[in-house]
Amino acid sequence: MRPTSATVRLNAITENFKTACALAPGSQNVAVIKANAYGHGAVEVARALQDEVPAFAVAFFEEAVQLRDAGITKPVLVLQGIFSNEEIDEAAARNFWLMVNNRRQIDLVVSAKNSQPLRVWLKVETGMHRLGLEAEVIENACEILSSSGKIEPNLVLCTQLACADDPGNPMTKLQLSKLRTFAAHNGLPLSIANSAAIMAWTETHAQWNRPGYMLYGNSPFNSPHVNAQGLLPAMTLSSEIIAVRDVAAGEGVGYGLDWVAQRPSRVGIVAIGYGDGYPRHAPSGAPVLVKGARVPLAGRVSMDMVSVDLTDLPGARVGDSVELWGENLSVNEVASSAGTIAYELLAGLTARLRRVYQQE
Ligand SMILES: Cc1ncc(COP(=O)(O)O)c(C=O)c1O
Repeated sequence: MRPTSATVRLNAITENFKTACALAPGSQNVAVIKANAYGHGAVEVARALQDEVPAFAVAFFEEAVQLRDAGITKPVLVLQGIFSNEEIDEAAARNFWLMVNNRRQIDLVVSAKNSQPLRVWLKVETGMHRLGLEAEVIENACEILSSSGKIEPNLVLCTQLACADDPGNPMTKLQLSKLRTFAAHNGLPLSIANSAAIMAWTETHAQWNRPGYMLYGNSPFNSPHVNAQGLLPAMTLSSEIIAVRDVAAGEGVGYGLDWVAQRPSRVGIVAIGYGDGYPRHAPSGAPVLVKGARVPLAGRVSMDMVSVDLTDLPGARVGDSVELWGENLSVNEVASSAGTIAYELLAGLTARLRRVYQQE
């Protein structure tokens, strides 16, 4: 078996969920497990969390179906809502909660022939300018939905914060006050906070929060934040050195021979590549741990392999363990050296990468 895997510590995810609950004791937290639970495995993560959470959230219908088909029974909120009438009956029957993001989705709900009422969350546009209904039409939308007889009475008003990961950004307070202005009229329950807001903006905590990223043990902030310190990284992406070779000064390594040895060097080949989701744009110099010691990536990432410069680690040999990210090397650090965010790295882990689940 190829010595490459993502080890997922399910108990870390459970602990991180409890941290979210402790930070927002007056709220219920919907665990966001879209994009295959940010690469960790949606079904396994849902099984681990199902006794703790009131509900899960995913991006789209098929992700919710995957959970039900695997035997997950908790409600599943579908964040992008539905795209056709046929989905409504199934949503009602399978206890999916639907986010309604626009006029078309209101029409689909109102004209549906569902026998059971739907649980609906209504997305309000407060400044991010992506999904959600504009402020002026919210009252009317609530009225249409509530009087349709197609939904349960407990409509939730929801918005998405654009800048919650920047604790100094005034936009969060602006978005919050916009939402609270509508809500003051109708007294409906609210949902505002994602991970960053749960940790940095207590005023956004409402009846429902929606933590995602923090469940996997990573901080969404660019600089250290006190409330992120206790998070437990849930994944270690690991492999092994499968070859070691000497490279003379002036010789190149890998496709394009992009990395050129500046001195007589030893290079290790690691059995992981962009075919597994390791970022192809990670540059030479990006950090990798070999037997716990930091070494720099050397040359282009290829589909199944990366190379590392072992010259300053003379004892390194074939079979040595390699951590690409995890408990000892933050995925945030790897992402920033690759010019991206760790959300992308985690969600981009591919199906062929073996996941190994640990539950203490
Ligand atoms: C509507 C919605 N709510 C909550 C989340 C969770 O955000 P985070 O992973 O930053 O906690 C997301 C993630 O993109 C989202 O789209």
